[in-house]
Amino acid sequence: MGLPTETVYGLAARALDPGAVARIYAAKSRPTFNPLIAHVGSASLDALDGRVIDLSQLHDEGRRTARRLTSLWPGPLTLVLPRGPAVPDLTTAGLDTVGVRCPDHPVARALLARVDGPLAAPSANRSGRISPTTADDVVRELGDAVQAVLDGGPCAVGLESSVVFIARDGAVTLLRPGATTRATLEQVLGRPVALADGDPSRPRSPGMTSRHYAPDTPFLLLPGPLQDHTDTVLAAIADRNARRVALLAWGPTTPLLPGLVEVQVLAPDGQARTAAHRLFAALRALDGLQADLLLAEPIPDSLVADGGLGHALRDRLARAVDGRLTPRDGPTPG
Ligand code: TXA
Ligand code: MG
Repeated sequence: MGLPTETVYGLAARALDPGAVARIYAAKSRPTFNPLIAHVGSASLDALDGRVIDLSQLHDEGRRTARRLTSLWPGPLTLVLPRGPAVPDLTTAGLDTVGVRCPDHPVARALLARVDGPLAAPSANRSGRISPTTADDVVRELGDAVQAVLDGGPCAVGLESSVVFIARDGAVTLLRPGATTRATLEQVLGRPVALADGDPSRPRSPGMTSRHYAPDTPFLLLPGPLQDHTDTVLAAIADRNARRVALLAWGPTTPLLPGLVEVQVLAPDGQARTAAHRLFAALRALDGLQADLLLAEPIPDSLVADGGLGHALRDRLARAVDGRLTPRDGPTPG
């Protein structure tokens, strides 16, 4: 069932029922190495302990850390914790951890209050595609593969939750940046939070593949604001013989480009929060234009503090594009 949350719409089924979870993977064509998040109705870890999670696997400091982070629930934060015995292998893709999140949306909370046990809910898009932020998006993405969608209106946040790994000793690593920023996590914990950095010895999120959130139309990222790279862009349009071109702009702009059919502005007010709310809807709108080429201005450096919302935006955009335009050499694989 399509389920609204404050971040994006999820495709929900009982997380402890392997048959139900298998149908989620099938509906999304999702690779089974990518684990699902179990959504819970209560912000109390004790209610989950021994079944969904296993806090006995953590040292005291790990347990304290996990409990402290639940002060941010309900909200856009997924905690990766030791997995409890009731969680099937398929839900966690065989990992010995499980991602749990208490969402902050009245419809999601109402449903979770009525069902027994957690709901697995990946974003309700076909695997690798743009995450849905309205009920209509879910229907367009999944069609007959979804039986019903609860319409809770457009998602307030618009980007997926931050995914955070809690080690036995309480060390915290931000695996996926999202709306709960590193600064907020550090404030709650009173100590530093690490960023997952591609170091293979560090915890990782199997879903953080390089191509994701992807439109079907060829999509290139500019090296900077369009006004500073007009020649590069004109060359790219000519090289590709693109007759219909559309732009994902950061701020309000009226560019003169050959073949330009639409401009989607991410942040009319310059705020990362506004851009997060609009990003996936803008990508969807651009992808529906039957354009030959989509171009995106990058998220401004000034907004990209490590682990902040600007970082999350840059992360999603980097995965959505096919490549980047470089000022001299043309596009390089992104
Ligand atoms: O905001 C959200 O988190 C949305 C809404 C629907 O709640 N859900 C969502 O689910 O984004 P999904 O499946 O699209 O992304 C889940 C991410 C993936 O990158 C996955 O690899 C990671 O969380 N993840 C889940 N369980 C994990 C685990 N045990 N260890 C590491 N990463 C995990
Ligand atoms: Mg997803």
